[in-house]
Amino acid sequence: MYEVKTAYQLIESEMATMEALAHESLSGIDPFVGEVVRYSIQLSGKRLRPMLLFLAGRAIGNTVLLDNKHVQTATAIEFVHTASLIHDDILDGASIRRHCATINVRWNVQIGVLAGDFLLTKALELMARNGELHGFRRLAEACRKTCEGELRQLGSVDRFDMTPDEYYEMIAGKTAPLLACSAELGAYYSGADNEITERFRIFGHKLGLAFQIVDDVLDMIGETGTAGKTLRTDLINRKPTLPLILYLKTADSADRTETLNRICRNDFDELSAQEMVLRFCESGAVVLAKQEAERLINEAVALLSGFNGNTQAIAALISVAQFVVNRNN
Ligand code: IPE
Ligand code: IPE
Ligand code: MG
Ligand code: MG
Ligand code: MG
Repeated sequence: MYEVKTAYQLIESEMATMEALAHESLSGIDPFVGEVVRYSIQLSGKRLRPMLLFLAGRAIGNTVLLDNKHVQTATAIEFVHTASLIHDDILDGASIRRHCATINVRWNVQIGVLAGDFLLTKALELMARNGELHGFRRLAEACRKTCEGELRQLGSVDRFDMTPDEYYEMIAGKTAPLLACSAELGAYYSGADNEITERFRIFGHKLGLAFQIVDDVLDMIGETGTAGKTLRTDLINRKPTLPLILYLKTADSADRTETLNRICRNDFDELSAQEMVLRFCESGAVVLAKQEAERLINEAVALLSGFNGNTQAIAALISVAQFVVNRNN
């Protein structure tokens, strides 16, 4: 069984080329602008989307070499992702990201809005560089869906009667499209046919859904020190997530009322938060949510068999998929 570290080693040189391109495309700009945007991009993100893109690219056949289109698109996707995090931290009122102060705290909200826009438009320039319209269109669609999903979540504040299906539709907007686009375009640029390219898109989509479910579990019960970002933001901002929806469905009426009152009062001092975490864990809702993520990951992994691909790259993709459900950051 591959570990994520081994998966990374397989595409180490492409990842290094991507980091170099990111650095190069943020050089030669105004020193203040450069400081702000480099601050967020150079922090220790997991680089999951570029990894997916490169590994999907490698998984197509045994002789495929990755080219500029892979590298430029991976860089553009990481820029879009980072822009979405900067804006998300403003929306969620978060103060820590990638183990450091968020831009809205280190500088301010106005600077965060524009730094996000800067990275997003820089990504468009990078995509335009390779002159390939299909990838450009697919990434634009993924960006638009991400915004729709985030907007939809803002429209769902206080909707504690949200159904699991509505939750899935929301995260199919805000999180899955960028991961789906990464896997899809990695395969597409390596010359995969329509059927295989679509398989990789669905692989990334399912992995993206599982990724957000686990993220929502971490937000509920994780440790800020390990996750490297501000947690409990979903509860604090009264955003329903799958573990909370499952908890509210199974809790007895007294527990349900007490939890909802606490959320409405914004009562999350250290002791109340610990008590709530315990309650969520004991209720079985966390286990159920994780099982949902595992089910999606199994479905995703099943899509990677039955075609003539590079076995090392496919094993690496499977290890990345398993990391998604077992991660604590
Ligand atoms: C965080 O994404 C935002 C979500 C979609 C939940 P990542 O966990 O991939 O963030 P970084 O890039 O590693 O910081
Ligand atoms: C944000 O979801 C997903 C994006 C599209 C940016 P979250 O708000 O849960 O992400 P984190 O937990 O802050 O990373
Ligand atoms: Mg957030
Ligand atoms: Mg958010
Ligand atoms: Mg989160």
